[in-house]
Parts: sequence; structure tokens; C-alpha cells
Amino acid sequence: MSDAFVELKNLTLSYDNSVAVPALDLAINEGELITLLGPSGCGKTTTMRAIAGLLSPTSGIIHIDGRDVTRVPANKRGIGLVFQSYALFPHLNAFENVAFGLRLQKLPDADIRSRTAEGLETVGLAGFDKRRPSEMSGGQQQRLALARSLVMRPKVLLLDEPLSNLDARLRLEMRTELQRVQKETGVTMVFVTHDQAEALALADRIVLMKAGRIEQLGTPAELYSRPRTAFAADFMGFENIFHTSGDTLVSSFGRLPVGYTAPSALLAWRPDAVTVGTGPHTGTITASSFAGGHREYVLQTPLGPLRADAPIAVAQVPIGQQISFDLPHQNARALAE
Ligand SMILES: Nc1ncnc2c1ncn2[C@@H]1O[C@H](COP(=O)(O)OP(=O)(O)OP(=O)(O)O)[C@@H](O)[C@H]1O
Ligand SMILES: [Mg+2]
Repeated sequence: MSDAFVELKNLTLSYDNSVAVPALDLAINEGELITLLGPSGCGKTTTMRAIAGLLSPTSGIIHIDGRDVTRVPANKRGIGLVFQSYALFPHLNAFENVAFGLRLQKLPDADIRSRTAEGLETVGLAGFDKRRPSEMSGGQQQRLALARSLVMRPKVLLLDEPLSNLDARLRLEMRTELQRVQKETGVTMVFVTHDQAEALALADRIVLMKAGRIEQLGTPAELYSRPRTAFAADFMGFENIFHTSGDTLVSSFGRLPVGYTAPSALLAWRPDAVTVGTGPHTGTITASSFAGGHREYVLQTPLGPLRADAPIAVAQVPIGQQISFDLPHQNARALAE
């Protein structure tokens, strides 16, 4: 046993006879906010269901807070769940929604009142006691769902894409809110998302998953600047990834001699790492969109489409026209095959 707070050891998870997650190992520290990040179908929800006790593993062990809970039923694991659909009780007001689980535990009335009030306060909903969910905004409903889980004082809070029903601005607000609540309560959180930006913003560590396996695990800064594989790089916004052969970049479209010897078999550039408006190569602009602080171009090049962000100061070049570009090696990330 390590001193991890949540530990998944050699966990295999299957539906009928098909394996969704083979032999997963993951250790989560107490008070940590971990995000599971990965494309649709990679096993994020499956992993969460196993931690929660809603899915029995085919093999492997789950430890929570020093206890083997592999065969412990869901309601005895001390886990809180918050899902994308808030599953609030529509006929109950905010106070009663939050108090619901405490009432089931038959706590004294005074405790229920004080813990519920504290829960509503924590998520910024003090004074909303009498509102029904239908009388609250999406963000308020999501915070209510969070309060309902928090008042149960879970050892671990599992959140499965809890923000995906919210509009962009509310999502940002709720992100900050979640971080604050986590700092205040110190609860260990596992947060599922397929949104790279959300994972980067929230996580202490990111678990990037691919087809049921961990592709890379690290801090947001590590994943962002040092993805190891093409899959990780692609997920972290390195949209231009090319094979190399000596001093030439190679794609399925063609080749481009770049005049430096490539340091690895695969090189990747973020759009903002591509130089446009100057450089030894020429491409044709096929798409151009204003993105606030910069302009996003797609160039048709010998390597196929190239995504490049140009500072707004670079004169706008119309679609169909040629523009020079460079793929500087000092801006490239070298990837493992
Ligand atoms: N109830 C089920 N029965 C059979 N197969 C399932 C079931 N639920 C999920 N799967 C399969 O298990 C794999 C992992 O699914 P999972 O729901 O964990 O993905 P996910 O990463 O949460 O994806 P998403 O981002 O779309 O929510 C997928 O191949 C999926 O088709
Ligand atoms: Mg899912």
C-alpha cells in the first residue's frame, strides 16, 4: 500500500464481455483535484462508476482512505457524486434538496438545519432556501447539486462533466467556484471532462486517457508544455504534427525540407508556434478567422493544411492569397513515436 488516499490497482472494468478499461493503476492524494481527460468513449465515466461502487471491477482493487472498498456497496463508500444532469428534486426547494441526504441519515433537526445552511453558504446560495430548482439558473442548480453532495461530507467527490450543460461564461464562473469550494473544504475531487482548457484550469494533476489506458499523467503545466506522444500533443493543442526524415518534414500530403536536422521522429507545433507573414516557405490561405487577440489562419502547404495563429498586428491577408511561413525548430515539441 502506498499512502495514496484513493488507489486503483490493476483495475479491469468490463461491460458484459468487452473490456472498457484494462489494468488501470492510479493513485490520488488526499485533497487533490484530479481530472480525467480524454475523448468520448475512453473510459472516464466507467472509471468513475467503479470508484463510486456503481460498477464491480472484473479484477483489481480499489482503496479509499486506507480501506479496501472493492466489494463495499456504493452507499457505504463515503463518495459524493455530481453529474451533468443535476438530478435535483423538482418539487423540493433548495433547502430541502440539500437536506435530503441528511434527513435520510436521521440526523437531529438542528444539525440538519445548520449543515444545510452551511452547504448553501459554501456554494454561494445563502438566501435561496425557498427557491425550487425551476426558479434557479443553470449555474445555481449546478451549485445546488454540489451543495447537496458536500453536506454529506464525502471522502471523495466525483464530478462527471458537471459543467457541460452551462454556457461558456457560466462554465468559467463555476470552474473558479469549484476550485474555491475545494480549497475551503479540502475534499478530494475527481473531475471528468473532455475539455482540455477545463482540465488545465482546474486540475492539480491531469490523467489523460486513451482507449481505457492512461496515456500521460502530470500537472497541467507538464501536459501542456511536455506532451510525450502525438495523441497527448494533439489533445493539448499541438495541431500541427509531422513525421521527420533528416532535414525534411513529412506528412500524408507531402514533404517540406526545413533546413535543420529534426531532433526526433515526430515534431509538433501549436498554431501560435508557427510563424506567419515571414519565413522561407509559402502557403495559401484557405481559412481566416478573427479570434480577439489574434487571427487564426489555415494555410494550404506542401504538408497539407497548417494551422497558424497570427498576431493581430500582422496585416490581414485575404483567403486565396499566399503568405510566407516558418516552422521554427526552437518552437517545436519533439514527440515519441
Ligand atoms: N452500459 C454500457 N454497456 C456496454 N458498454 C458500455 C456501457 N457504458 C459504456 N460502455 C463502453 O465502454 C467504453 C467507455 O465508456 P465511458 O462511458 O466510460 O466513456 P467516457 O470516457 O465517459 O466517454 P464520454 O466522454 O462520451 O462520456 C466505451 O467503449 C463505451 O461504449
Ligand atoms: Mg462519460
